[in-house]
Amino acid sequence: MKSGTSKRLLWSWTPESLREADDAIVKNLWLHWFPGTVTRRSISFTYSFWLGTISAVLFAILTITGIVLMFHYTPSMERAYTSMKDINYAISYGWFFRSMHRVAAQLMVVTVLLHMMRVFYTRAYKRSPGNLGNRPFNWIIGIFLLILTLALSYTGYLLPMDQLAYWAMMIGTSVAGSVPVIGGYVQTVLTGGTEIGQNALLRFYVLHCVVLPFATVVFVAYHMWRIRKDGGLACMDQIVLRKKKDTASPASTKTYSLLGIARGVDVSVKTSSHLEEEDLIKSTPNVMRRVWLVTLLTLIVTIALSIYFKFPLEAPADPAMAPNPAKAPWYFLWLQELIADTTFTLFGITFNGAFLGGVVIPSIVLIWLAAVPYLDRGSTRSNGIWFPRERLRQNLIFTLVVLVILALIFIGAFCRGPDWIFYWPWEQWPVAPIKF
Ligand code: HEM
Repeated sequence: MKSGTSKRLLWSWTPESLREADDAIVKNLWLHWFPGTVTRRSISFTYSFWLGTISAVLFAILTITGIVLMFHYTPSMERAYTSMKDINYAISYGWFFRSMHRVAAQLMVVTVLLHMMRVFYTRAYKRSPGNLGNRPFNWIIGIFLLILTLALSYTGYLLPMDQLAYWAMMIGTSVAGSVPVIGGYVQTVLTGGTEIGQNALLRFYVLHCVVLPFATVVFVAYHMWRIRKDGGLACMDQIVLRKKKDTASPASTKTYSLLGIARGVDVSVKTSSHLEEEDLIKSTPNVMRRVWLVTLLTLIVTIALSIYFKFPLEAPADPAMAPNPAKAPWYFLWLQELIADTTFTLFGITFNGAFLGGVVIPSIVLIWLAAVPYLDRGSTRSNGIWFPRERLRQNLIFTLVVLVILALIFIGAFCRGPDWIFYWPWEQWPVAPIKF
């Protein structure tokens, strides 16, 4: 037996040549996802840590577990909380699917952020040396994906309609309402009225289950397509640069074009990538095996965490009784902290920080992030390399911004007690007065 039964069971096909590998991607829908060949560095764990793929796998887990939850959840003010209770305590394995959904949502926020940091630190947002495609644009698509990920997580937060959900929702919509001129309108559009009730719940449900997942699928598909169009992962640029240096340019002899079809000084075809056979490995089975491995590991970690962590429901939402302190989800705590820090009283007038802390500062951070590829005028030499020396300044500024955000999240999570007063994590809070 040439390949052996076990080998055939585990992997049925390995292309014999690069030509066969390239042919396969046009014949097979699944293989079409990847190029026929890639560089070794592209698939090494130490380059990308596969964080983009892990984020995509988590999104798939969220979609599947979300559909299971949708069979049992009712988006109405009367039934939302009780249907969540049914899922948690009455329906077989309901707690498990809910737990997996919550764990995957938190993990996805973390992995998308880490993926963005990886792309920044490896300067993978710049065009390739051959000026192929448009990586800066793919970085901007990535920023939309980050916003979509946060929006998906946040809109899901309201659905259980418990105290945690209701008050996190109040904080979010009042920040939107603080935008001058259009704020009130945005708030009304989000909540479907003047208070958080049936209209708000239905709007968040439709956004969470239809609009945002659909937009995410479209953006992820485009993001992946762009990677191919942009000349592959940025680590390839190093090989291209090396090869370019080694290859002498063809001498300019005649200036004619081949019947106007091929532009240039001669009729020799220049390869766009400069990559040769020895630089490449076949995607099948090398990339495919790793994709399955990453998928399996992500699934195992998500399942393990879902069994370990319990997510009890809080008391049903009560508009008359605000928990004190009422905290936003952890990934928005830095904004809540900024809002508190930028709220101050001067000559008896209180200036509300919701606009400055909740709208202006995060908008500046987002605009700065979007502009990063265009502000960076460095050389292609540092594309696809972790922490290159010549980018020390940029990396320090980026790390500083990340650390400030993490510090604000830490303060919001562990150092804020009733009335948002500062306490050290080891200090005892006074008994919280309940606000009416
Ligand atoms: C739902 C969220 C996202 C998904 C599913 C996703 C998926 C991916 C995947 C699978 C890759 C291939 C390399 C890898 O696995 O790391 C990739 C590369 C890339 N991603 Fe994302 N991504 C997401 C969000 C983002 C964000 C937030 C940014 C930046 C703001 C970004 C920018 C990029 C860029 C520029 C590349 C090319 C990297 C290179 O050439 O090395 N992505 N993404």
